[in-house]
Amino acid sequence: MRTAHPTRQPPSTPEGQPLLQVQDLRVNYGGIEALKGVSIEVRRGEVVALIGANGAGKTTTLRAIARLLQPRQGRVVFDGQDVASLGPEALVERGVSLVPEGRGVFPNLTVRENLELGAWNHRSPSIMAETFEDVVQLFPRLGERMKQDAGTLSGGEQQMLAIGRAVMARPALLLLDEPSLGIAPKLVMDIFRAIRAIAASGTTILVVEQNTRVALGSSQRAYVLRTGEVLRQGVSRELAQDPEIQKAYLGG
Ligand SMILES: Nc1ncnc2c1ncn2[C@@H]1O[C@H](COP(=O)(O)OP(=O)(O)O)[C@@H](O)[C@H]1O
Ligand SMILES: [Mg+2]
Repeated sequence: MRTAHPTRQPPSTPEGQPLLQVQDLRVNYGGIEALKGVSIEVRRGEVVALIGANGAGKTTTLRAIARLLQPRQGRVVFDGQDVASLGPEALVERGVSLVPEGRGVFPNLTVRENLELGAWNHRSPSIMAETFEDVVQLFPRLGERMKQDAGTLSGGEQQMLAIGRAVMARPALLLLDEPSLGIAPKLVMDIFRAIRAIAASGTTILVVEQNTRVALGSSQRAYVLRTGEVLRQGVSRELAQDPEIQKAYLGG
């Protein structure tokens, strides 16, 4: 039986109110304007997708939210607090976890050790054991591979591990960068089923995807990014029916 809240530190933002506000974000790489004033909102309890072609600025947006890069202009507010005053670790402490593009698991550590590292921000053995059980329920394939080195897992299994490791921190907001990238279609379905389950348990999610179909099918709302700008935004179900979106992003 559950003894702890699914997030380590429940947000003070009420359900349905903006948990994350990204306002007029501008990021440059040298002379390149990667983000030209991106504004996004994620309400507590939502799954929001950020879609767009390669190079649109999706990863840059997530990295700026997670404080891994400094925007030239704009503001990121999480749970009512401007994150500019926080470093990346402090932001994890406050409940924001990022699963980066390319996953970044430790190949020479076992699955179990990788998961344990995810819980660095809370060392209570009982909560850790409970969260461990949650992760195994989400990803039974990981449960079967606890003693295996992470480097021996398939790409899809490493993605599951990376998400599992982030869940171990019991985040209030989970940021996912292209969880479907380079992964077999069947595992993509498993991963998105797990993402929906994580959301159902009370974690708010912002997921970046090039796979528009699966992203729109698993989110409530979505933003379409093109060359550093928000081109469209709306209810995912409606965007999926939109002829323009279908033509440009759904191959139809
Ligand atoms: N470290 C970097 N140095 C220079 N340019 C970069 C860097 N990272 C990304 N870019 C450029 O910024 C733009 C947005 O990149 P990115 O955010 O990675 O897009 P996406 O994740 O949507 O594919 C692209 O034009 C990309 O080439
Ligand atoms: Mg990217």
